[in-house]
Amino acid sequence: MSLRAMELDDVPAVVRLHRANLPSGFFVELGDRFLGRYYRSFLTSPAAVALVAESGAAAGFLVGSTDAAAHHRHLMRFSRWDLARAGLASLLVRPELTARFMRTRARRYLRGMRRSPAPGPADGTAEGGAPARTGVLSHIAVDSGLRRTGVGAVLVDGFTGIARVHGVERLRLYTGHGNEAAQHFYRRLGWEEREVRHDIDGMPWTPFILDP
Ligand SMILES: CC(C)(COP(=O)(O)OP(=O)(O)OC[C@H]1O[C@@H](n2cnc3c(N)ncnc32)[C@H](O)[C@@H]1OP(=O)(O)O)[C@@H](O)C(=O)NCCC(=O)NCCS
Repeated sequence: MSLRAMELDDVPAVVRLHRANLPSGFFVELGDRFLGRYYRSFLTSPAAVALVAESGAAAGFLVGSTDAAAHHRHLMRFSRWDLARAGLASLLVRPELTARFMRTRARRYLRGMRRSPAPGPADGTAEGGAPARTGVLSHIAVDSGLRRTGVGAVLVDGFTGIARVHGVERLRLYTGHGNEAAQHFYRRLGWEEREVRHDIDGMPWTPFILDP
């Protein structure tokens, strides 16, 4: 099994792994074209990390960032219209999804598209009150037939190693509150659990942090 940077040719396999292993969520509902555009945005951002573990075919992948605010700014500058077009194309043929989008996300997304967050940390504060440079583990998935063989741990170790080299002070991620397997996995890798938070759909998520 080898670990390497994700490439453009990996995107279709990564989209398949995402759909099969992370089946819930608004991005999945927006369709494979949108997911493909979303993953492509991690390949161009200098603050992003996109890894693939493979043994013949793609066994798993991880995407995240070493500076959440810088990655968001890059996304807004270079990928926002691409993502908006792909999202709109799905919404136009899915009236129910459009209604939910208008109810729960439209205002926030439009606000987010107009202005980028201020430079610096997305959240987290280092000791002494100084802001911590925060990276985010956005998504990880391992092919269901290859789980519990160490693929996930290799991907996360690769990511934390890159984050350390970039001087990241804090990493964070969210797991679905009911995702016991992922929570065991992150605890075992030294991540610390934080208090449950709810997203705009009212879904509970358990945050984890790691100071790499
Ligand atoms: C979470 C996930 C990435 C773990 O990948 P993996 O390759 O199976 O993990 P590893 O084999 O590296 O496991 C490392 C350790 O984590 C723990 N662990 C992993 N899966 C576990 C499970 N289902 N139950 C309990 N502990 C688990 C174990 O301690 C394991 O070590 P061990 O097998 O020697 O006991 C994988 O289960 C997955 O893709 N799940 C679906 C997608 C998902 O939930 N992603 C996370 C969303 S935040």
